[in-house]
Amino acid sequence: MTDLLPDDLATRRLRPDAGGLRVAADLLRDGGLVAFPTETVYGLGADAGNGRAVAGIYAAKGRPSFNPLIVHVLGSEAAARLAEVSSVAGDLMAAFWPGPLTLVLTAREGAGLSPLVMAGLPTVALRAPAHPVARALLEEVGRPLAAPSANPSGRVSPTTAEHVLGGLSGRIDAVLDGGACAVGLESTILALDPAPRLLRAGGLPVEAIQEALGQEIAADTDPARIAAPGQMASHYAPRGRLRLGAARPEAGEVMLGFGPVPGDLTLSAAGDLAEAAANLFGCLHRLDAMGAERIAVAPIPDRGLGRAINDRLRRAAAPRP
Ligand code: TXA
Ligand code: MG
Repeated sequence: MTDLLPDDLATRRLRPDAGGLRVAADLLRDGGLVAFPTETVYGLGADAGNGRAVAGIYAAKGRPSFNPLIVHVLGSEAAARLAEVSSVAGDLMAAFWPGPLTLVLTAREGAGLSPLVMAGLPTVALRAPAHPVARALLEEVGRPLAAPSANPSGRVSPTTAEHVLGGLSGRIDAVLDGGACAVGLESTILALDPAPRLLRAGGLPVEAIQEALGQEIAADTDPARIAAPGQMASHYAPRGRLRLGAARPEAGEVMLGFGPVPGDLTLSAAGDLAEAAANLFGCLHRLDAMGAERIAVAPIPDRGLGRAINDRLRRAAAPRP
């Protein structure tokens, strides 16, 4: 299911010194996938502005659906370029960054993030990791990095480079070996809309956040929503009605093409699933902007990233309240 890497490609294990960091940064700038240590767990990193690289994360993890990923930055300045930072968000960053706290904020349009990172949502999850290797890598790359935990879908999060290689060897370009992670538990995720709401309990105790803000924080840890925010009812779907598996448009339909099936716009004229994944949410937004009321979608092969694309299209096509 690796659409981007040949099966026999070896995953490099890099030392977290100047040479290793330079190799890792070059790979990431070229759209590669590099796992790196954070204080919580190892993340599987890709350039958050490169849709194909982000598609590669989903392919390497073997995820059958798209869910939004956490974007890693050095600190509040970089965060403010990507999202709207309210005063509460700023206070939390000052108190807890760098560290195991992720904040879900309204994304800035035109900030250069791939819509696939947010799975089409208007919000972005941002975190500044404290691990010195993660920070050195962010500095060397000079770009925000999307990074979910570096494990195959459905397996436990990795806290050593050995765990990463055990699950993803041959599917990613490299792993920066920074030893064992100190926290061993994913970051705490807080939404600010604008009242703080706990989306995932994690490495930073919620009590510490409550103390810093001087207020109680409502928990929204409904397991169904937290495990799969990509399936929430509020998740992005275009306003138009979708007809899937269409060989050609009927009268009045706007056609979304793929491969040999041409369209008014196309997910990938070359029939490339990674390109289609990278274009998916952008195309859905453009269809809305065009005012498309009825949309025909070309068939997408149900393998590799095609499974996640079809999952999202089926959700978008399902009857809505
Ligand atoms: O400790 C961590 O947070 C690790 C390390 C590598 O930094 N990263 C991690 O990332 O756990 P990830 O991508 O597996 O976490 C993604 C979760 C989603 O499942 C969702 O719960 C939440 O972050 N999330 C991301 N973007 C969101 C958004 N826009 N709205 C709501 N939840 C979001
Ligand atoms: Mg995970």
